[in-house]
Amino acid sequence: MELYDAMNSLRAIRRLRPDPIDPATLERIYQAATWAPTGGNVQPWRLVAVTDPAKKQALQDLYAPRWKDYSANYRGRLDGMGDEAKARAERTLDAGDHLAANIGQVPVIAVFCFNPSIMAITDSEQPRTTVVGGGSVYPAVQNLLLACRNEGVGCVLTTLLCMDEPAVKELLGMPDDWYTCAHVPMGYPVGGGYGPINRRPIAKMVYQNTWPTT
Ligand SMILES: Cc1cc2nc3c(=O)[nH]c(=O)nc-3n(C[C@H](O)[C@H](O)[C@H](O)COP(=O)(O)O)c2cc1C
Repeated sequence: MELYDAMNSLRAIRRLRPDPIDPATLERIYQAATWAPTGGNVQPWRLVAVTDPAKKQALQDLYAPRWKDYSANYRGRLDGMGDEAKARAERTLDAGDHLAANIGQVPVIAVFCFNPSIMAITDSEQPRTTVVGGGSVYPAVQNLLLACRNEGVGCVLTTLLCMDEPAVKELLGMPDDWYTCAHVPMGYPVGGGYGPINRRPIAKMVYQNTWPTT
């Protein structure tokens, strides 16, 4: 599909059908992930495609209580919102509830892993959270999301399972020096799937030459 159309309709899809995704489609999606840039072209990421029902259920058992805590906190903040934003947030939360209750049923959960010891993390000395390392993994995640969009496969980038990283590492037999940074359930959408997204306008996001004073 046209690239800009894919980008501006790539919204989170949390209601996914259990129907299988055919291997050729998956191959194209994984191929797109491998085309992403990485620092020094080291490609310090791997993707574990979890299709085993018992492992997917184990991931659901970890995800559901994390989502419950996160969504309870989020729901507690809805009152201060305007009507439109509140309705949107409620739709997102309902879809999130659905995902948390069904993530173990989707055909594939793509678990993105990374190895920081082979990355040049140029902001590691800064007195703040480092983000540069993520730059060698999340472009691959985004390529996978866009490829899913192109194939009509629903997906959503999730990170709540990073709170249970030791359990996920053990479940997937990961080496000590590899870690997890994204878990992407993939499957055909239950409803209409992709559609309009809600983002801030360019003028609020992109500045010319200097940071604005107002
Ligand atoms: C770094 C990151 C972490 C996210 N983690 C989760 C998550 O754990 N669970 C979830 O349901 N969605 C998660 N999302 C999806 C976002 O909530 C979603 O992209 C955002 O609300 C915008 O919604 P839209 O893409 O439908 O417009 C995550 C997205 C990003 C970029």
